[in-house]
Amino acid sequence: MAAENSTGRTAIVTGGASGIGLAIARRLAHDGANVGVFDLDADAAEAAAAKIRAEGGAALAVPVDVADRARIDRGVAQVRDAYGPVGILVNNAGREGFQAFLDITEETWENLLRVNLTGTFHCCQAVLPDMIAARWGRIVNISSSSTHGGQPFMTHYVASKSGVVGLTKSLALEFGPKGITVNTIPPGFIDTPMTRRNEAKGLLGGTVDHHASLTPVRRAGLPEDIAAATAFLVSDEAGYITGQIFGVNGGRNT
Ligand SMILES: NC(=O)c1ccc[n+]([C@@H]2O[C@H](COP(=O)([O-])OP(=O)(O)OC[C@H]3O[C@@H](n4cnc5c(N)ncnc54)[C@H](O)[C@@H]3O)[C@@H](O)[C@H]2O)c1
Repeated sequence: MAAENSTGRTAIVTGGASGIGLAIARRLAHDGANVGVFDLDADAAEAAAAKIRAEGGAALAVPVDVADRARIDRGVAQVRDAYGPVGILVNNAGREGFQAFLDITEETWENLLRVNLTGTFHCCQAVLPDMIAARWGRIVNISSSSTHGGQPFMTHYVASKSGVVGLTKSLALEFGPKGITVNTIPPGFIDTPMTRRNEAKGLLGGTVDHHASLTPVRRAGLPEDIAAATAFLVSDEAGYITGQIFGVNGGRNT
């Protein structure tokens, strides 16, 4: 598929060992990119990279906590050494949070923002010099459909993801003149290990099937739905799309 061809590009996908990130890493590798799989879970990252290689793609597992800038910088250097300068960054690593607002401690608040928002800041800063030098770059930040209308008992999570939306829009304006696009995909109800964990804990306000029945397209989203949108946004053909909130939610948010 020409529009989604990323042949020869170096890509980094954070949180690439599970769910949405894994689907994105597999899809970009399928489209020809050489993929650095950044994940907190070293074993899962290795398994993801091995799976991609078994499918004929190129992937390198890099154990990285996106809250740790030194580790990110070392990881980016490792990927650059293996595949060349980084052209594509997908900031997908994220943690969920469910808690009554008055019970959220400053520590909990800070820890969640450190991964979801500051992690995105760090990864963008770490790869932008490569993109500026190449006068070409694609950044896709995975936010959340909860940013469209808010979500009770998830204030820290929604605040962190809303920060990612603002970061995306401002970066797009600053780096558009340098050939770099920055967009955000706010996924809406995707069937991933995170979603199933929350279903098992009774945190979803109903089962996955129940939510699917309320979704206009009558199914839960698949990680591959987000991967397809990402593949388009990182393509050459998407060069006139930047600073956008690219909703993928089965019509749950319009
Ligand atoms: N599943 C949904 O319906 C949904 C909806 C909206 C937004 N999102 C967002 O999509 C992203 C992926 O979610 P998912 O459902 O695939 O979750 P998931 O839990 O299945 O996968 C998340 C991956 O991120 C990794 N990770 C977590 N913290 C990290 C850190 N500090 N550094 C590096 N890696 C880290 C985990 O190890 C895991 O492999 C998250 O940012 C999430 O907030 C998901």
